[in-house]
Amino acid sequence: MKVNLLYKIGIIGFGNMGSVIAHKLAAQASEYEVRVFEKDKSKAIKAKGVSFSEDISDLMLKVDTVILAIKPQDFDRLLKELKGRILNKLVISIAAGISTEHVEKLLGNVRVIRAMPNIAARIAESVTCLSKGNFANDDDLEFSKEIFNCLGTVRNINEDMMNAATAISGSGPGYIFYFIENSALDPDNIPEHARHDMMRRLEKAAEVLGFNTEDAAFLAANTVNASISLLKSTKSTPEELRLQVTSKGGTTEAGLEVLRKGGSWGEAAQAAFKRAQDLAKRG
Ligand SMILES: NC(=O)c1ccc[n+]([C@@H]2O[C@H](COP(=O)([O-])OP(=O)(O)OC[C@H]3O[C@@H](n4cnc5c(N)ncnc54)[C@H](OP(=O)(O)O)[C@@H]3O)[C@@H](O)[C@H]2O)c1
Repeated sequence: MKVNLLYKIGIIGFGNMGSVIAHKLAAQASEYEVRVFEKDKSKAIKAKGVSFSEDISDLMLKVDTVILAIKPQDFDRLLKELKGRILNKLVISIAAGISTEHVEKLLGNVRVIRAMPNIAARIAESVTCLSKGNFANDDDLEFSKEIFNCLGTVRNINEDMMNAATAISGSGPGYIFYFIENSALDPDNIPEHARHDMMRRLEKAAEVLGFNTEDAAFLAANTVNASISLLKSTKSTPEELRLQVTSKGGTTEAGLEVLRKGGSWGEAAQAAFKRAQDLAKRG
């Protein structure tokens, strides 16, 4: 249960996602004090309501919750650096493929929440899936829900469905931008039949990965609607947005490779799911 306190949130990594989370939380200045550590100092630009720490030690001294917003490939190096500094802090990881168990293995018995938001966080329309680790409690999950509500809607799921969520709601915007790009649709005026076509494809893909019909419909509808809203509200083309969500070696890239070869959305999601599993093994 939330009481009227100022929550001190630390974010490690101020890239695509970390910066959006920082800005959205800082916009709720009466609730959150936001502090960031970013190793690339050129990115640590002035941002209203966001403070920057010079190093991890300083950040960890000043926050109660730490959000890990770096690439899965950089994760283990960071976790080794964080070991022994977590104390009683809540750790929230948004990395594709990294399980709470993996974080616990490297950090010890710490409270970990795993979150999978998507690019629509920029317009506060992300659908974020959340799951909790072995040592996190229901209050931690509730608190994390409040945080990610600043970015859109939140769905609690079992951890064993997190890689599937990554392939559907995390990478789904990539399939949607690719589809719009290649269907000669007007991004500012997507007809209803095309919207429903994309929802059906993503919903079917979600069912292929094991989501029940209700979760599949929820994730598909929210991801499609939010991606279309993002397209309308930014001046970016579908191609530009697709490029922004396609990290090298990431889950969206794996899904898009399949679509380019003429595969279905279900097959694309399976490839993204497999990439999420592979990212986990790399750790
Ligand atoms: N982008 C999306 O749409 C999306 C959606 C859902 C989840 N995610 C997850 O979010 C995470 C971040 O993705 P992103 O797209 O925001 O990545 P990004 O743009 O590459 O941002 C990560 C930032 O963290 C910095 N960094 C790396 N190691 C660090 C360290 N030890 N301490 C401080 N800063 C460090 C990186 O610097 P360098 O570039 O110099 O390495 C980079 O500026 C990933 O794990 C991804 O799976 C992303």
